Amino acid sequence: MEPVRIAIVGCGVIGNIHAQWCVKDENITLQAVCDVNKEQADKVGKEHKALKICNDLNDVLNDDQIEGVILALPANLRAKFAVSVLKAGKHLLTEKPVARNQAEVQELIDNRGDLTVAVCSSRYSSFPFLQKIRDFIAAGNLGEIRVVHVRGIGEDAGPKDSEPPIWRVSHEFNGGGIFVNWGCYDLNYVMSLCNWTLKPKTVLAQTWQCADHLPMRVHETSDAETHAIAMIQCEGGPVINIERAEFAALKAETSWQIIGSKGSLRLQLTHWQEGPTEIFFDKADPKGKLITETLFSEQVDDGINHGGPVKDFAKCIRTGDTPLTSLENGMLMQKLTDAVYRSAKEQCAVVID
Ligand SMILES: NC(=O)c1ccc[n+]([C@@H]2O[C@H](COP(=O)([O-])OP(=O)(O)OC[C@H]3O[C@@H](n4cnc5c(N)ncnc54)[C@H](O)[C@@H]3O)[C@@H](O)[C@H]2O)c1
Repeated sequence: MEPVRIAIVGCGVIGNIHAQWCVKDENITLQAVCDVNKEQADKVGKEHKALKICNDLNDVLNDDQIEGVILALPANLRAKFAVSVLKAGKHLLTEKPVARNQAEVQELIDNRGDLTVAVCSSRYSSFPFLQKIRDFIAAGNLGEIRVVHVRGIGEDAGPKDSEPPIWRVSHEFNGGGIFVNWGCYDLNYVMSLCNWTLKPKTVLAQTWQCADHLPMRVHETSDAETHAIAMIQCEGGPVINIERAEFAALKAETSWQIIGSKGSLRLQLTHWQEGPTEIFFDKADPKGKLITETLFSEQVDDGINHGGPVKDFAKCIRTGDTPLTSLENGMLMQKLTDAVYRSAKEQCAVVID
């Protein structure tokens, strides 16, 4: 296929990684990089030999050579920039979280037209081997889905080793705290494995900020939560139970499970641990004894999680296919996120419309 001419706006940590993957992909030309920070734009642009380096979004919007734009900016700029990109007639891959609230996602949908718009929360759902798991679930091997369980407890509350960027500690700038930083990956992962068949109805949630007595791993003015838990009831009975925490007084632990009436899957989201990535199917034999089958066990290159959304974006621009994670999927996850924060704030269950 003819390489897709892509520009990256925002040359920070993740913009630089997007640039690496654009350069590696024979179906992509890194047409431009853009950052208000000139030094940052020059560094990333020169290292990855971008055809153009600029510092103003308008230089991207007005460039007819550019077909698609990757927005790798903090979330507070995302919707505004995304709408400008779409109005300029360019395809869009937007970083996660897709936006900061439902109204912002709706603005993107309203301005999309026939353009391809993809969402980077697909990152951990983009490993090709996961299609086998989607097919396994779709074939009914789990029976009726009862519980989708996610527990992602990150780094402990040890001493601070680096200052987080300002957007990372502000609910206003980031659209939330740990629940948006990691919860969007969790939700994208489990919902895409269930082929987006789960229809959330009601959310009951609680969130907490970093405890005062813990060493300040987050900035003292931060209003972003570092611990969130939600129970999401779906149409027909399945429940998504999701907990995420960082800098908390508890041991790091990760667990993703899809539990059905006939059997259950034990999964991994991230793949950067030692050893192979493994996915297990647990089921009961006719006497009720548990049997475990290994559905997948291979050494996986975790780096591909970054390449997945970019490759898929370029392919969808040329084929017109729906991206791995569409704006409609993004909207569903945003509705859940908004409901989590509302439920925690108002101390009540929130119904999803
Ligand atoms: N850091 C990660 O590992 C990571 C991974 C996945 C997703 N993300 C998401 O991507 C987004 C960006 O994260 P990051 O870590 O790269 O942030 P960052 O702070 O490292 O980079 C953001 C960049 O955007 C630039 N920028 C700000 N305003 C701009 C403007 N008006 N025009 C052009 N450039 C502008 C900044 O100068 C900066 O270089 C966040 O929403 C984050 O949640 C980050």
